[in-house]
Amino acid sequence: MKTILVTGGAGYIGSHTLVELYNSGYNAVVVDNLVNSNKESLHRVEQITGAKIPFYEIDVRDSKALCDVLDKHQIDACIHFAGLKAVGESVEMPLEYYQNNMVSTFTLIEQLMNHNCKNIIFSSSATVYGNPEIIPITEECPKGKCTNPYGQTKSMLEEVLMDVQKADTAWNVVLLRYFNPIGAHPSGLIGENPNGIPNNLMPYITQVAVGKRPELGVFGNDYPTPDGTGVRDYIHVVDLARGHVAALKALSRNCGLSIYNMGTGNGYSVLQMIDAFTRVNGILVPYSIKPRRAGDIATCYCNPAKAKAELGWEAEYGIEEMVRDSWNWQRSNPEGYTTE
Ligand code: NAD
Ligand code: UD1
Repeated sequence: MKTILVTGGAGYIGSHTLVELYNSGYNAVVVDNLVNSNKESLHRVEQITGAKIPFYEIDVRDSKALCDVLDKHQIDACIHFAGLKAVGESVEMPLEYYQNNMVSTFTLIEQLMNHNCKNIIFSSSATVYGNPEIIPITEECPKGKCTNPYGQTKSMLEEVLMDVQKADTAWNVVLLRYFNPIGAHPSGLIGENPNGIPNNLMPYITQVAVGKRPELGVFGNDYPTPDGTGVRDYIHVVDLARGHVAALKALSRNCGLSIYNMGTGNGYSVLQMIDAFTRVNGILVPYSIKPRRAGDIATCYCNPAKAKAELGWEAEYGIEEMVRDSWNWQRSNPEGYTTE
């Protein structure tokens, strides 16, 4: 297994995964329509790796364009990151989310099949557990009720891929359920580049720290957690990227259908995250307590033992590296990717 099709490769997790793929001796072919990213991220990946990465600016829903790419390159496996991911926006624009995330995946599966490639890693999310029945969450924890269209697409696409694999066991399908990816490549060259006001905690903290926003709103301090604020399993994006390389090895062992949590197994509260950021980077983050955010849950962290046992993968970076590298990226690129 050598050449990997990376859909959504210009995005946050995709760009970091490209670096780890090349570090591990793989080649990539990237397709991305740049709806939520910038070509500059790929130039930066080339700078880090020294590789020239074939890139096609296409929409994965464009069957003909995707077919042309697959005619041109012999692909051994696909890592499918492409998709829309903003929870609040998905509530306002449900059809766009269902259209984009579902149709792009259907088109991709069809075209991979037509080109005799039956190996795929899919970006799923801890959101499929809903309000989890078991903490720490194992892969056996039943899926829960998703409260938004974004989460529904992840949960439904998991089912689609499971059915495809059940119908044709030549398929190898790895579903990776990401917890909360943060951080950036230690070089500071690539990182998360949110459009507009960030929805997620860490990019909001770094934008307050860099002076773009006056203060952080902490969404609720009356949850049943040690300090009342929400607890999450933050994972360094470089560790998550390495998780994809480990999953590729499972594909090449003909793993059939496999599902893995991608987290550290440690839960941190919002106040602990603010505290770690301040302690490590020496910057105060002004904040005030706000009402709870609709759809939020109190606590979400995983048991990552299955990925360790079966993939030989576990997160290596701790919270200090996560907040250090998030800040290093933001400080070095206060306006994100500006050169394109
Ligand atoms: P991102 O928005 O940075 O990357 C997604 C990429 O897909 C973008 O470059 C975008 O331009 C591209 N894209 C979207 N629709 C496309 C289409 N139809 N055709 C071609 N390209 C398209 O997001 P990310 O944070 O890197 O997330 C990658 C994947 O992981 C997504 O599927 C996301 O839902 C999933 N995920 C992310 C998180 C997270 O916290 N970042 C958590 C769980 C799951
Ligand atoms: C959110 C999404 C989830 C998605 C995940 C990763 C919602 C309801 N859920 O989860 O579907 O899979 O991102 O992309 O949006 N917080 C603040 N102030 C802020 C931002 C966040 O206090 O300005 C708190 C939240 O209440 C939460 C924690 O920080 O307790 C983490 O929030 P966030 O980064 O948005 O991730 P999730 O809520 O886990």
